[in-house]
Amino acid sequence: MKQFISVHDLEGGLAGALQEAFEIKKDRFQYSHLGKNKTLLMVFFNSSLRTRLSTQKAGMNLGMNVIVLDVNQGAWRLETERGVIMDGDKTEHLLEAIPVMGCYCDLIGVRSFARFESKEDDYREVVINQFIQYSGRPVFSMEAATRHPLQSFADLITIEEYKRRPRPKVVLTWAPHPKVLPQAVANSFAEWMNETDYDFVITHPPGYELAPEFVGKAQVEYDQQKAFEGADFIYAKNWSAYTDPNYGKVLHADRSWTVDEGKMLLTDNAYFMHCLPVRRNMIVTDGVIESAQSIVIPEAANREISAQVVIKRLLEGL
Ligand code: CP
Repeated sequence: MKQFISVHDLEGGLAGALQEAFEIKKDRFQYSHLGKNKTLLMVFFNSSLRTRLSTQKAGMNLGMNVIVLDVNQGAWRLETERGVIMDGDKTEHLLEAIPVMGCYCDLIGVRSFARFESKEDDYREVVINQFIQYSGRPVFSMEAATRHPLQSFADLITIEEYKRRPRPKVVLTWAPHPKVLPQAVANSFAEWMNETDYDFVITHPPGYELAPEFVGKAQVEYDQQKAFEGADFIYAKNWSAYTDPNYGKVLHADRSWTVDEGKMLLTDNAYFMHCLPVRRNMIVTDGVIESAQSIVIPEAANREISAQVVIKRLLEGL
């Protein structure tokens, strides 16, 4: 594998990737020879807890040396636009910084969220594509502007571990949040679910429609309670508006969409999932996230496994 930006980069499809994930989970040190004398550089333009720790751990499980660069803490401020007269506070251009970073490593992971300055630039994935073009190294996404594939892969592993029937009903529900959040987790989750044969439903208030290429064949249901009926998995996430002219706006944070105990009673004893971090009593009540049906911690634990499958495949492709 030469890059990992979306589910479409997974050679051999989901079945092969899942098989590899479960094999690695049995013994996560069995490939520790693969990364010997190889360096993983993780570049963060945005904050992280899970991605940073799980990806670093995955690299170490594979025997790699790992360097973490927080671009906004201690590095020169980077200009990303070409053609800009650099007379402001940005000292270095990404077009020099990226190939320099490539000199010091064998693989590069990048986290660069949507900036909401231009929908076109966000959906063209300008920053991560510059890393692919100019680093000279295999690049993988640690959440880019439009997708979070390491999270979605971990979500899929978790659903496979907990499902009680071959074709579970999986519901992605919008939930309220006070801040502007990207669509990346929701887009990516939908994209991965569309690669399965699960019964997949997306529910959100009018105005929060996702891009059609991510919705794919999912059923869209505007009535959240109806969507929850008979569900096996409830996957909650907030996202800001995608459709024009409201791109990147919070239209409302209606707490009648918070996932609570009453709504969970409509499901078929569904498991509750969220990528974390989560705002309690906005996205989900204390009672639901603390219930026996909440699998947010095993879901987060599977981030180490999804990252390890991806880094292993990238190492094998060097
Ligand atoms: N789910 C996730 O990506 O968590 P972090 O933002 O903490 O990395």
